[in-house]
Amino acid sequence: MYNYTSFDESKLKFVEIAPASELPSGERLFVDLGDKPVVLFNIAGQVFAIGDICTHDDGPLGDGMLEGFNVVCPRHGAEFDVRTGQAVQMPAVVDIPAYPVVIRDGTIFIGIPSK
Ligand code: FES
Repeated sequence: MYNYTSFDESKLKFVEIAPASELPSGERLFVDLGDKPVVLFNIAGQVFAIGDICTHDDGPLGDGMLEGFNVVCPRHGAEFDVRTGQAVQMPAVVDIPAYPVVIRDGTIFIGIPSK
């Protein structure tokens, strides 16, 4: 299953995250990729992965409420689209990383730049 249809797999390294059974619909999962905190959301059966640091002032996005596909930063209310990482609500103006998600044989992988 791909959440993103237009990424170049040759430029990505896919990292195994967890069995898909550990992230049921409506839940979220926190992982660290090296020094990068990442949060994954299962929204109605679709899995999305974003960086877990708000670009406004480093708030913990994974603790925020979801409004549709937007996560609301618990610190000052900025919103980001978890599908793209795009900052869609002030006070944040800089996007966050969004990682392609692939589920293969019941296991979640996310793609990170290979270079
Ligand atoms: S730290 Fe996220 S809105 Fe300020």
